[in-house]
Amino acid sequence: MIKKAVEIALNEQINAEFKSAYLYLSMSAYFQSAGLSGCANWMRVQYQEELAHATRFFDYVNERGGRVTLAPFSEVQVEFSGIVDVFENTLVHEQVVTGMINKLMDISIQESDHATKSFLQWFVDEQVEEEANVGQILNNLTLIKGEGQGLLMLDREMQSRVYVNPFSPKA
Ligand code: FEO
Repeated sequence: MIKKAVEIALNEQINAEFKSAYLYLSMSAYFQSAGLSGCANWMRVQYQEELAHATRFFDYVNERGGRVTLAPFSEVQVEFSGIVDVFENTLVHEQVVTGMINKLMDISIQESDHATKSFLQWFVDEQVEEEANVGQILNNLTLIKGEGQGLLMLDREMQSRVYVNPFSPKA
């Protein structure tokens, strides 16, 4: 049976992952309204990934005989001052999520919950990749100064991102 402290932290993570999904869907809507359909696609894929993360945590709590309790989340940001603002917000958000995953890992270690430690390792690695991806996009935006022909090319490149369920056997 899962320890209470771990169960609470896992439920907080489910909330954070769903909140991430909602935020990225909001960013997708912003990009769509700004005429950047490639960036809108990129954020929509991001939204789908976050739903997969939330659902994986959800399933894990159940697998361990814990109780999932879904909590409300606060209002999501809907307005941004431009593409750089969106990706800066994304990076800050992912850094917060990384901090939560690390704290969850700390709790699992304190509680000697080896199964949760093992489960979390995928998410620890995933956060490194997520932060690196967003950091790369921000670097590209700095190079093209977030505008002009460069922005059109970046938007086209963002269109090619395709969602793959990270937990499907083939992924
Ligand atoms: Fe589920 Fe972007 O971390």
